[in-house]
Formats: sequence, C-alpha cells, structure tokens
Amino acid sequence: MRRIAITLQKGGVGKTSVAVNLAAALAADQGLRTVLVDMDAQCNATAHMLGDDFSGPMLSDVLRGDIPLRDALVQCHHENLRVLPGAEDLVDFERGSDDPRRARTIMGVRDMLTAGIPTDTEVVIIDTPPGGGLWLQAALAASDGFLIVAWPDGFSASGILALLNTVDDVRAAFNPNLELDGLIINHVRHTAGHRGYTEVFSQIYEDILLHPPLPVRSVISDARDAAMPVEFYERQFRTSSQAAELFRDIAGQLVRRTGIRTIRFAFAS
Ligand SMILES: Nc1ncnc2c1ncn2[C@@H]1O[C@H](COP(=O)(O)OP(=O)(O)OP(=O)(O)O)[C@@H](O)[C@H]1O
Ligand SMILES: [Mg+2]
Repeated sequence: MRRIAITLQKGGVGKTSVAVNLAAALAADQGLRTVLVDMDAQCNATAHMLGDDFSGPMLSDVLRGDIPLRDALVQCHHENLRVLPGAEDLVDFERGSDDPRRARTIMGVRDMLTAGIPTDTEVVIIDTPPGGGLWLQAALAASDGFLIVAWPDGFSASGILALLNTVDDVRAAFNPNLELDGLIINHVRHTAGHRGYTEVFSQIYEDILLHPPLPVRSVISDARDAAMPVEFYERQFRTSSQAAELFRDIAGQLVRRTGIRTIRFAFAS
C-alpha cells in the first residue's frame, strides 16, 4: 500500500481536483483498490465524490475512536474506489492546541492511516488543506510520498518552497522516509507568463514532473458540480474534453514511478 498526500500550502491551485480525479483514474483505469481520504475541514473532496448533502460517519469520528475506519469508508462511482469523508470539526483539533497535543494528534492520524486502512488497499490518496497547519503536517506524517500541485506562476513557485520547508520539519519530527512522488502543473493557460513558468518548472523539477501539464478545462469544474470525477462524468454525459485521459496518463506515470504495481505483483507471487 502506498499513501500519497496531495499538497501545496497555497490555496485554490487544484489539490482537491487532482486528488479526486487521480483517485478515480487509479481505481478505474489502473485497477487499483483506492481510498481517498479527505483531510480538509472544507470537505471539498467529500462533496466532489459524494455530493454536498452527504451525511454519515467521518474522519473526526474515527479519530475520536467512535467508529473503526473501515466502517466510515464510503464506496462510490467504482468498485475499487472508497472515500473517508472529511469533517468540518477537524478545526476543533487545532484550537488552543499546544505542541505536545499537536504531536499526539499527528501521531494519532499516522497510526490511524497505518493500522486502520483495510489491508487489501493498494493506494491511499490524501487531500490536504491550504496553509501549513496541523492537517497538512498530519497528512505528511502519515504518508509514504507527497505530490505537489502548482499553477505555473510566481505564487506557486514560492508556495513550493514554503511546502518543502514544512516537509523538512515533518521529516525531522515524524517521518524521515517521506518521499517526493511528483509535481503536477495545473490550470495552464495560453499566456506568455504561464508558458514561461511551465518551462521553468519543467527544467527545475525535470526529474519529478508528471506529464502532461493540465490545461484549464471547464469539464473539471462541471464534473465537480455534478459530484463526479471527470472519468465517470465524461462517460455518463458522453462528452470528451480529454481531461479524463490526462488524469489517466498522470496516474499511469505515478504508478510506474512509485512501484505501486510492483508491490502488488510481489505480494501476489
Ligand atoms: N485544470 C482546471 N481547469 C478548470 N478548472 C479547474 C482546474 N483545476 C481546478 N479547477 C477549479 O478550480 C477551483 C479550485 O480547485 P480546487 O478546489 O481543486 O483547489 P484546491 O487547491 O483544492 O483549493 P483549496 O486550497 O481551497 O483546498 C475549483 O472550482 C476547480 O473546479
Ligand atoms: Mg482543496
């Protein structure tokens, strides 16, 4: 099993869109048993997968020990795909939280995602909130690797540096083996600025860039409004913006790079 956090401290760059659509591609196209964990009090990934009015057990119930993680998972859209719903009251864990208490929460999350996820799961995708707070740190502490999602612009460039500082802190305190699994450039427009930054990121982060950079595609927000990943939205509404294909390409590279399937074959033999 590989746990991968989808990250950038900057808000609105497409972390949730990538988390949801990558999870769908890993489940449906790569055939991997996938769990999407919504670790953001905004609960956007939960709404994207399950609709705005979802109600049921959620991450905070599991963390408080009220319900086993297995019982909080909701299967949706595909037999290989399950969601651990996020919770607005995740913010309560941060209030007045001193360092030892924060550390206990982070280790509690790590234990939960190590011991609580069903053992037949092959990949866990964790959507994280903007900012460098408790829940980003908890997701990084509980993960084997992390993916960076960035717009091709200067704000994301500084966001990457800020994130890498947080990663250093989390490695030192909780998770020395945390690996960088890739960078996804998202929301690329046909402007000189975006072309320039795409080129710069492609050079600096050549070894970790997952291709192709994702262009602006209205189907990504249309599918979100319909509470579906683009993979299933395009099939159901018979549209073809090729957005689903782009996520499938990225999912395939991620699988090859991280060796998720190798682990599976090693397990099977
Ligand atoms: N490539 C894209 N083309 C068009 N719209 C996109 C694209 N990527 C993301 N969006 C839209 O941009 C908005 C922000 O995306 P998203 O919620 O995924 O960002 P985020 O990084 O998770 O935000 P936050 O930091 O608040 O968690 C959403 O409305 C989403 O549908
Ligand atoms: Mg989000």
